[in-house]
Amino acid sequence: MNSSENVIVITGGSGGIGQACARALKGNQLIITDYAQDTVNKTVETLTKEGFNVTGIACDITKQNDIDKLINFVAKHGELKALIHTAGVSGTVKDLNKVFTIDLVATELLVEAFYKLATNNSVAVLLASMMAHTVPANEEYDQALRNPLKTNAFETVKKFVHGSSDTMYNFAKRGVKLLVEKHVDKWGAKGARIVSVSPGVIETPMALKAAEEHPERMKMIKQMTPLQRNGQPSDIADVINFLVNDGARFITGTDILVDGGVIRNIKKLEQPSV
Ligand SMILES: NC(=O)c1ccc[n+]([C@@H]2O[C@H](COP(=O)([O-])OP(=O)(O)OC[C@H]3O[C@@H](n4cnc5c(N)ncnc54)[C@H](O)[C@@H]3O)[C@@H](O)[C@H]2O)c1
Repeated sequence: MNSSENVIVITGGSGGIGQACARALKGNQLIITDYAQDTVNKTVETLTKEGFNVTGIACDITKQNDIDKLINFVAKHGELKALIHTAGVSGTVKDLNKVFTIDLVATELLVEAFYKLATNNSVAVLLASMMAHTVPANEEYDQALRNPLKTNAFETVKKFVHGSSDTMYNFAKRGVKLLVEKHVDKWGAKGARIVSVSPGVIETPMALKAAEEHPERMKMIKQMTPLQRNGQPSDIADVINFLVNDGARFITGTDILVDGGVIRNIKKLEQPSV
């Protein structure tokens, strides 16, 4: 990899949406990162064989030490063109604190760390979820979601999720949208952009696991989707490809919903809980 060239970093790069993003961004200098070194190695090996310019490093995004190593690695490889942050877990992880930490606290740590690398025309794309759109505004928990590193943030949010990890997921993803709004001015002062993308049901390992747990709910969501199908990872990757490139140069501080139109129908139900 040429050290003077721009790099695109993909967290969760071995996951469904992460790998699809890598494939949509062929021709760029890619850095894949994920939780475990062996999965990163496998992804890098596969993509390299297919002609991608790619390297990788493991990073547990909940650990500041790992993030520091990732930042040093990226800085050695070139200037930051984009951070595409797809690493995350769903509500199938039953530990509320783990969902909050991986999906929201780690997102804040990454945004803070990558801000140091951001320059004019860099962009951060954070994966939220259509389920973030089901959580209404509320001064008390929004304050905590905007400041997930504060000591009481988790306890404050926990009071509102009634022990459900699926609901905690929805709240954490609302937090991701709020982080974009919180950081937009700071990033903008550098000429850098920050946006979130909210996928609907996308057929990746994450969604397949959720489908096993809630088959009836997943069937119902599909039936309620105006486009009458689930999303594919490439449906998200193509939008992200647009967002990291020049065509999106005036888009920042906002969320892009890519859900086949379904969330407006889900919101009409009394108790949304996916
Ligand atoms: N698939 C969907 O239907 C869907 C819908 C809405 C939002 N999303 C969001 O899109 C993003 C990508 O989802 P996906 O479907 O590709 O999931 P996935 O499970 O296929 O990939 C997620 C990746 O994140 C990695 N990861 C988890 N914890 C980590 C940690 N602590 N450190 C580093 N890496 C870690 C996993 O190893 C995995 O490779 C997630 O943020 C998810 O919440 C997905």
